[in-house]
Amino acid sequence: MLSSVMPTYFNRLPVAFERGEGVWLWDIHGNQYLDAVAGIAVCGLGHSHPAITKVICDQAAKLIHTSNNYEIPNQEKLAKALCEISGMEQAYFCNSGAETNETALKLTRLFARKKNIANPLVIAMHNSFHGRSLATLSASGTSRIQIGFEPLVSHFEHVDFNDIGAVKNSVSLNKESVIAIMLEPIQGDGGICIASNDYLQQLRKLCDENDLLLIFDEVQTGLGRTGKWFAGQHANVLPDILTVAKTLGNGFPIGACLARGKAANLFGPGKHGSTFGGNPLGCAIANEVIRVIKEKNYCENAHKVGDYLRHQLSTKLKKYTGVLEVRGKGLMIGIQFDRTCIEIPRLALKFNILINVVANCMIRLLPPLILTQSEADELITRLDHCLHEFFNTKYIPCYIQ
Ligand SMILES: Cc1ncc(COP(=O)(O)O)c(C=O)c1O
Repeated sequence: MLSSVMPTYFNRLPVAFERGEGVWLWDIHGNQYLDAVAGIAVCGLGHSHPAITKVICDQAAKLIHTSNNYEIPNQEKLAKALCEISGMEQAYFCNSGAETNETALKLTRLFARKKNIANPLVIAMHNSFHGRSLATLSASGTSRIQIGFEPLVSHFEHVDFNDIGAVKNSVSLNKESVIAIMLEPIQGDGGICIASNDYLQQLRKLCDENDLLLIFDEVQTGLGRTGKWFAGQHANVLPDILTVAKTLGNGFPIGACLARGKAANLFGPGKHGSTFGGNPLGCAIANEVIRVIKEKNYCENAHKVGDYLRHQLSTKLKKYTGVLEVRGKGLMIGIQFDRTCIEIPRLALKFNILINVVANCMIRLLPPLILTQSEADELITRLDHCLHEFFNTKYIPCYIQ
């Protein structure tokens, strides 16, 4: 049947889900899957979490949406909670990761105006991913998402990730125009590339010395994914702008751009806005997500179970010469292959697990933060069977069959 949906997603997997509970999903035929994708780092509390279901029902029965023309107490409460866990000072609310990064980039323009810089340059990283809007795809360091959308938004320079010399060099070559440095502390779509603590600390110093804004895109890493509320906290580094989305709504679309110090108070009335951003329902859900993560200490769980999963995978998958490395932080884990593995998510359906591939050669695991050790064991067993089949049969990609 010809679909009426624009075909922006290639190779959709032939499975449709009907319901979920915790780390489990059931398809329309009643088959049960262990979900190690979590809606791409979104459903941190798993599926159909009772507290989230309850807050959605209670808030929806009272009030879903008003407008940012009116006071929204849930929004005030959420801004306070986010600032408390992040060390930031202010929040702006939107609906997605791309929008929060777009907001961050608009803030860099206002900061530049204040400094009388006419053509402000943002240094971003090769291999990065910041979203699909025109400015955020231009900020991203991957041509894959840019091709066809030229002319790109100008004034981004991309340098090698985790290479302080490359950033310093770019700052000194662009002294008159550079205004900000933007990065993901752990590159997600780029292949679970982890910035060292030292690198992040040196970036902070460089930004302080040169009056630049340091922007951490924590859309994927934020809210417990890496074992702390935010990945920058592993290095004790506070950015000037911090962007979050994904886990914040556990599936409800909400994002936030947090700012502090010289990045705070740049927006005035009329400078930015969103119809849906920060509405009573979205904020009630996000407040509950933060409350539950805090109450159940799911950051610590992500740290502990993530460490366990990574170590077990490193040991168990050693027997496959095609597996080069298992790396990650918390429950953000990559399994690096020596060959393309883009067809593995499809094969994994046979073993009733949901996994994801990035950078062509890496399985990315992003299970819910609530994953238990025994569920991690189950994931390892199923993944092992899946890799056994992958490496021991000539797996023919379905689009060739
Ligand atoms: C680090 C990062 N930034 C931004 C985005 C874009 O988020 P969204 O798809 O919600 O616009 C993503 C999405 O995967 C991401 O991983």
